Parts: sequence; structure tokens; C-alpha cells
Amino acid sequence: MGILIKNGRIVTAIDEFVGDVYCDEGTIRAIGENLDHRPGDEVIDASGQLVMPGGLDPHVHMELPFMGTVSADDFESGTAAGVAGGTTSIIDFVIPARDEDLMDALAAWHDKASKAVADYAFHMAVTWWGDQTKEWMTRCVRDEGITSFKTFMAYRGAIGVDDPELIEVMKTSKELGSLVTVHAEHGDMVVELQNKLFGQGLTAPKYHALSRPPAVEGEATARALMMSRMTGQPVYVVHVTCKESVDAIIAARMNGVDVYGETCTQYLLLDDSVYDKPDFEGAAYVMSPPIRPRGHQEVLWNALKLGALHTVATDHCPFNQVGQKDRGKDDFRSIPNGAAGIENRLALLYTYGVLEDRLTLNEFVDLTSTRAAKIFGLYPRKGSITVGADADIVVWDPAASGTISAKTHAHRCDRSIFEGFETKGTPSYVIVDGRVQCREGKLDVERGAGRYLRRTLA
Ligand code: URP
Ligand code: ZN
Ligand code: ZN
Repeated sequence: MGILIKNGRIVTAIDEFVGDVYCDEGTIRAIGENLDHRPGDEVIDASGQLVMPGGLDPHVHMELPFMGTVSADDFESGTAAGVAGGTTSIIDFVIPARDEDLMDALAAWHDKASKAVADYAFHMAVTWWGDQTKEWMTRCVRDEGITSFKTFMAYRGAIGVDDPELIEVMKTSKELGSLVTVHAEHGDMVVELQNKLFGQGLTAPKYHALSRPPAVEGEATARALMMSRMTGQPVYVVHVTCKESVDAIIAARMNGVDVYGETCTQYLLLDDSVYDKPDFEGAAYVMSPPIRPRGHQEVLWNALKLGALHTVATDHCPFNQVGQKDRGKDDFRSIPNGAAGIENRLALLYTYGVLEDRLTLNEFVDLTSTRAAKIFGLYPRKGSITVGADADIVVWDPAASGTISAKTHAHRCDRSIFEGFETKGTPSYVIVDGRVQCREGKLDVERGAGRYLRRTLA
């Protein structure tokens, strides 16, 4: 059965026009005016609504073993929450333990991801350097459809790498033509500050933020980009939160460094007063890097506009307050880092970006879908409304409004870091690979229907 979406305002990263889109067998077959359809096809009247490429979230962690627990959304519930919010594909991170065979970790991730309801790809984290690491990286690019690697400059003693290891990753990636993504925080300084604060008896969630100030992130960003410049390896800096990092990215770009920057919804919309909430509620906002003082938000919005930052992701990595975050009740260093967000990304960016005149509709599509597809080797299959692309489409009702709450969200998490945020605009229909998986706001997803996306070198 095909699907005809009629009379919608079709919005891509560059165009905006009223027309019809016809999809069949999971693919966009035609775009035009007054398109025909076959008997039995579903016809969706999108008059007065926007028709956009499905969202692509390039930074999520489903079912991630981390800090002694496992992130609460698995691939089924997490991709379903994405679909509820208009995100139709994700890129998750395979994160091997230190000394683990990268290929064994990849097999484990494939196993976990087989229950996804929407399409998924992987970045491979290089968490240690050994005799076989170069061979494994080569296999990722040549045989496994993984064309980007993740490195953590934070999380020392666990999944973090040191500078010589990071340099090896960059040199190898340069030979392979792949991309290196970087979590930029000065890992040793974080440990130093954590221990100093804890040693003074300061144990509450707010000290998580104070142990990871903007200077710690800015320095690491600049250092990673210096390595990028020296090795000639393009770098994508994940979850940029602060002016210091934006400045480092702009300076590197001015020096010809091939660098992309990502920020996340929470860093655009929240400020560090969240850590002052009573009764350990600040723990819900413990993530790395932390939520910053208010002034940084405007810098991030401006950097998106300027083109110094290129994508808005979520770093979706939920942990429940009860049973997970409370592991760190007496020690902020033990609070699992991360929060939920995949369901809310489009509505928040539409409400506080487009409707507040910070972003155009084309920029909205680019930042939430198209640019990530281009950077990570999925375009035009994903991130576009073109004939031949996957039929991943969001019909967006701009008139709908809502209020975000943990009581009603699809995330498997007992808290929402956006609790009480008002939103305008919501998906009325979400089509994933040619199947309507959300109809008039009601989810109708199929466990295991998601496919693994092999990526090509961009
Ligand atoms: O706090 C975070 N960001 N948790 C997920 C892991 C990471 O660093 O991206
Ligand atoms: Zn990170
Ligand atoms: Zn992350």
C-alpha cells in the first residue's frame, strides 16, 4: 500500500513549497502537484501542515552500560519515543569497555538494536589503543558501514582515552577517510576538581557542574582541534555547551580546520539554576558536560545561526531518579551522567527556535535532520525529501500545543528535564520507511522493524 500526502507545505533544508508526496514500498516515488494514487493507498490531507524529512538524531545512547547501571531506554522504547517526537532515525554509539574487542562490542550492539522500531546506525567508540585497534577501525569502515569514531577525553580510567591514544585514532582515521567525534573535557582536571570538592564534604549534584566548568571543556575542544589541525583529520565535537568551545571551533575554522560542532536541546534551553533544586532533584540534570550559566545559551543559538555549530542532537541517555540517579545520593561523582530528550527535540527547537525567530524553517530541518545525514554519510537516503529517498516523513501540525511532562512522555524515565515546558507544533503523522508509525498523535510502532544503516564515507 502506498501513501499520498496531499497539499502540505513541503519544507526541506533549502526549499519550501506546497505540494504532494507519494511514497511506495518504503521509498519516496514522486513529488509534485495533484499526484495520483492507487486504490487502497492511504491518503493523508496535510493542508495547513508542514511536511518535512524525518528527524535524524546523531547522538543517542540506548541501553548503554554506564557508571554501574544501564541507560533506561532500550532500542525499542528509545526509538519509539523518537518516532513520537518526529525523529525517524538515530545514530547510537558502540562503546566497548577498556580492553574489550571492538568487534565483540559491535556484535553486542547489533543484538541490542535488533528490536528498534526505526532505522539506526552506529558510531564506534575507540576506548583504548592496542595492537589490533587499527585493524578493527579498518574493518569498521571497510566492512561494517561505520564511518565515524567516538573518543572521550573525559571519563578517565573508564572509557576515556589519553592524548597519545587520541592522536593514534586521528592518524588512523585520516588514512581511512572517516570522521572522529570527540567528547571534549579535560579528563584529568575533572578528576582533580571532583576529588577536591568531595574532599571538602561537598557531595550534592550541583558540585558535578562545578567540577566541570566551561574552561575544562574549552581547553579540551581547543586541544582536540589542534590535533585535528596537525593530523589533518576532520573532527565533529559532540555536545558543545559553552562560549569557550564555540570560540575554539571558530578559531579552528579560521585556521582551515575541518571541524563540525553539535549542541543539544538542553544546552540551548536550560541554565545551571537547575542544580539548585531541593531534595536531590538536581541529579536529574547531571550530565557531562553540565548545564551552563545562562549567558552561554545565547552564544549557542548565535553559533547555530552563524554556522559555527551544525547540528542539534539530544545525547539521549536517560537514568531514573529512583534506582539509578540515587546511586549518587551521597556522592555526586556516582550519579549516572545523562538525561532523556529524543522525543522533545523537534518540538522544543520549533517552539523556541523557529517561533522565536532564532531559526528559519529551513535551518530547523537542516539542524535536526539534513546536516547530520550529510556529515555522517546518510544523505540523500535520510534527511531529504527527494525521489528515491527513504520514506521517512513528518507531517507537522504547527497549531498543536502541549506541555512536556514525565507523566506523559514516551521516554522510559521517571523525570523530564523539560518538565513544564510549553511547546507549539507536534507531529500529526510520522512515516518511517513507508509505514505510518504515528497517526494523529497515536504511536503504532513495530518492534524490530528498524533497519541497520550502513553508512558511506561522506
Ligand atoms: O552525560 C552524558 N553526556 N552521558 C552520556 C555519555 C556522554 O558523555 O555522551
Ligand atoms: Zn559525551
Ligand atoms: Zn553522549
